[in-house]
Amino acid sequence: MARHLITSALPYINGIKHLGNMVGSMLPADVYSRYLRQRGHDVLYICATDEHGTPAELAAKEQGLAVAEFCAQAHDAQKAVYDGFALAFDYFGRSSSAENRDITQHFARKLNENGFIEERAIRQVYSPTDGRFLPDRYVEGTCPHCGYDKARGDQCENCTRVLDPTDLINPRSAISGSTDLEVRETKHLFLLQSKLQHEVEQWVARHEDDWPQLASSIARKWLNEGLHDRAITRDLDWGVPVPADTWPELAAEGKVFYVWFDAPIEYIGATKEWADQDPENRDWKSWWYDVDTEVRYTEFMAKDNVPFHTVMFPATELGVREPWKKVDYVKAFNWLTYYGGKFSTSQKRGVFTDQALDILPADYWRYFLIANAPESDDSSFTWEHFTATVNKDLADTLGNFVNRVLSFSRKRFGDDVPTGGEPGEAEAKLGEEIARLLAEYEVQMEALQFRKAAAALRALWSAGNSYLEEKAPWLEIKTDKDGAALTLRTAMNLIHLYAVVSEPFIPATAKTMREAFSLKDDTAAWVTAAEAKSLSAVPVGTPFTVPPVLFAKLTDEDLENYKERFGGEAG
Ligand code: MF3
Ligand code: ZN
Repeated sequence: MARHLITSALPYINGIKHLGNMVGSMLPADVYSRYLRQRGHDVLYICATDEHGTPAELAAKEQGLAVAEFCAQAHDAQKAVYDGFALAFDYFGRSSSAENRDITQHFARKLNENGFIEERAIRQVYSPTDGRFLPDRYVEGTCPHCGYDKARGDQCENCTRVLDPTDLINPRSAISGSTDLEVRETKHLFLLQSKLQHEVEQWVARHEDDWPQLASSIARKWLNEGLHDRAITRDLDWGVPVPADTWPELAAEGKVFYVWFDAPIEYIGATKEWADQDPENRDWKSWWYDVDTEVRYTEFMAKDNVPFHTVMFPATELGVREPWKKVDYVKAFNWLTYYGGKFSTSQKRGVFTDQALDILPADYWRYFLIANAPESDDSSFTWEHFTATVNKDLADTLGNFVNRVLSFSRKRFGDDVPTGGEPGEAEAKLGEEIARLLAEYEVQMEALQFRKAAAALRALWSAGNSYLEEKAPWLEIKTDKDGAALTLRTAMNLIHLYAVVSEPFIPATAKTMREAFSLKDDTAAWVTAAEAKSLSAVPVGTPFTVPPVLFAKLTDEDLENYKERFGGEAG
């Protein structure tokens, strides 16, 4: 039994996330956490909203709310959706918490003491109309390279050239549109990452062989380009304030830390938020401080987040010169596309997590998304694929099996698991097959290969169907009543096994399947290989009920409706 710390990339506060976000961070982290808990490990799964930065300020402004008020509401709205998806966080925190402020300020002080922070004067665009300095991406203008007239100060979307705001022709504020802009000198804190390059390289070298190729190749690419010193403060009203004890002048000017500085620290901050809710029984430091080999730390994220988690956050942690826990395994995902194109909020293409739950319960989405997770490559969401998968795997292979077995047995043998004859050759063969597939499922889950784990789960479901077709108890019963009872009893044991092993993917349905049997002490214990082989965990005479249909079949009309509502082709 090991202790597992698990985090998923913190979703930005502004706006409900789409399915691509869900499958690239939170959902697989939840599936993995649930699996490890069932296997008896001590698991702490932490996530939070990422609340600082200009986008939060602007979204608040758009809604006419104070930014703190906006974030409080948006946090609750996101949390409600994640509850709907049955994400079993141990804690879902907020990067704007007092805990994160304290730890972020502590990190900055230590980095400063250790010579990794320097104050530098830079020239930045100031907008008197907006009464603020403008972050690079909030200066818009014409690209000097290609003439595109909506180029942003950090990059031209049209020709992808990296820009400086002062490169733009006819620059204007993206906030107010004002062209009355000036360049002013202002002081900021810089994190001297260049000084940490060598240490980060050594640290990555010790870990990258264990990481998936996607994570290690991105880390290598960034290291090869060289770590640059980065400004870690901003002129914003909303953020973790620069501590006045260390930088009185910058604090007086109201500078705050850059969102990407405090966001990863919130993994620690949220753990402290969790502990602060029950300080007698929870010890946040035992997960984060001086626990090099005691805790295994796994992070989940989409590929755009990899540089921050494999290079920049580790650089920060190393520079603090205190034994903070660093990531052991980085599970990175490619993109989920919508009909091969981007999910797009503005063009109303794609499916948002709240809309998904309006249409169908979480288990439908959880299964489909994980079974098609963009692991080795991007994968494409289409309504055709979604409805076909639901109908085949969930409604036919799993749902129909459960209902057929239980209703037929009730009709012929009453409300208890029937006695029947002794297991024979078919049962022995089935047991071998189930034990083999269970082992495969465990191997893939432990390797965080989610698609392959889903394939093994599907194969477990299919094995039950093959057995049932082979034995055909509805025919058997005409000539061999005991034989038919044995078949049904064995199939009911499969249902119970499915309830246990399907839980990480489809927790609500798993609970329904489990509760079909009135078993005492039916805890979340895993299935042993011996139990898989003998298929006899549910004793003869156990009372059962027939649950309602587990998964509804989706019709052609449903498919057409979805496509019409959400847009059904690439944009
Ligand atoms: N909010 C970021 C994103 O959605 C992820 C932040 S992850 C953290 O891309 F490490 F910074 F917390
Ligand atoms: Zn351009």
